[in-house]
Amino acid sequence: MQCATCTGPVNIAVIKYWGKRNEKLILPLNSSVSVTLHQNELRTKTTIAACPNFTNDQIWLNGVEEDINNSRLQAVISAVKRRARKRKSDGETNPRLNWKLHIVSENNFPTAAGLASSAAGYGCLVYTLAKFTHFKGELSDIARQGSGSACRSIYGGFVTWDKGTNEDGSDSKARQIAPHTHWPELSVLILVVSDQTKHTSSTAGMQTTVETSELLKQRLSGLQTKEDQMTDAIMNKDFKTFAEITMKESNQLHAVCLDTYPPISYMTDTSHQIIRLVHQYNNINEDVKVSYTFDAGPNACLFMLDSEIPRFFSLVKHFFLPENGHSTVQGLPITEQTLHTDEIQKFKLSKQNGSVKYVIRTKPGPGPQVIEDPSESLVDDEGWPK
Ligand code: DP6
Repeated sequence: MQCATCTGPVNIAVIKYWGKRNEKLILPLNSSVSVTLHQNELRTKTTIAACPNFTNDQIWLNGVEEDINNSRLQAVISAVKRRARKRKSDGETNPRLNWKLHIVSENNFPTAAGLASSAAGYGCLVYTLAKFTHFKGELSDIARQGSGSACRSIYGGFVTWDKGTNEDGSDSKARQIAPHTHWPELSVLILVVSDQTKHTSSTAGMQTTVETSELLKQRLSGLQTKEDQMTDAIMNKDFKTFAEITMKESNQLHAVCLDTYPPISYMTDTSHQIIRLVHQYNNINEDVKVSYTFDAGPNACLFMLDSEIPRFFSLVKHFFLPENGHSTVQGLPITEQTLHTDEIQKFKLSKQNGSVKYVIRTKPGPGPQVIEDPSESLVDDEGWPK
């Protein structure tokens, strides 16, 4: 039995991907920019095992066996194998390429967190398949065929997905614009919002938007300038510009969702309360200190510099976290700051304790990693899920 284990990160878009020009190849209508989050807090781990006696390809996600015949899964598995075969110039075939695979994958963050797990999942799957087949070369265009946003999870730090123009999608891939070490003071708070609603999937949602939204056309016409400004802001570590574009991008994504017919709304009352808190905080400080972004769900992803964390977190705790709740903070430690009554009174917000379940503090982080320690493998000695 041979196996490989790797971990892969989640990424959060600051210039959003919403709309495809080719559904099958997953080619986007616009380029996007993202921040890869640190795997110490949020990661997918995948083990791929194979041996000549396995009879079927099989996949288990978070302990449950899933359908391996899913077309996106099949597309990425066969693309990596095809590329690995092509690279074998010595004429000798790697026997592993013909063995059946057992793929076991787990997230270290609860599904309830509703975070973009398909990006981490497909990014990690493609990276682990490449390690397993000893393939070294471009992977992001393969990950893209699993889930568009997954192509950005192949790299750490700050990443652009160039939309490309080729019909076969060969130039629609991600690249790193700066490593995670580039902006060490940048911090991320994820506010996990209590919510029971079932959301429209990104895939279905963006398809209806492309079919019905007039506003999307207008959005697309102005995006290149925004993308250039965002790249400059990242390179110059210009937090104010980075934060403003991030918030406007999130707002525009949710505006085109509402302009979709029938409309799609991912944000809840709590999401809107969080937006209010951020804008009031920035107004009181007469500067842009915190920014928010929301994807296809109600959870907020907030960017701020480390120095802002104690004060801003204390406000989140005061207004949103459960009272007397324990384990409401996960990930990197947070030092709280005592808030004075006159300071709290400046905020025109009502207390809704419990509307945010918990907070995860993290940072930008590196790309996928190989795990050498065999005790970390997700399969037993026979190649079955542990
Ligand atoms: C709102 O990558 O999940 O998170 O390509 O159909 O799998 P598919 O969609 P997906 O869409 C992500 C949308 C988003 C914005 C973003 O990550 O850029």
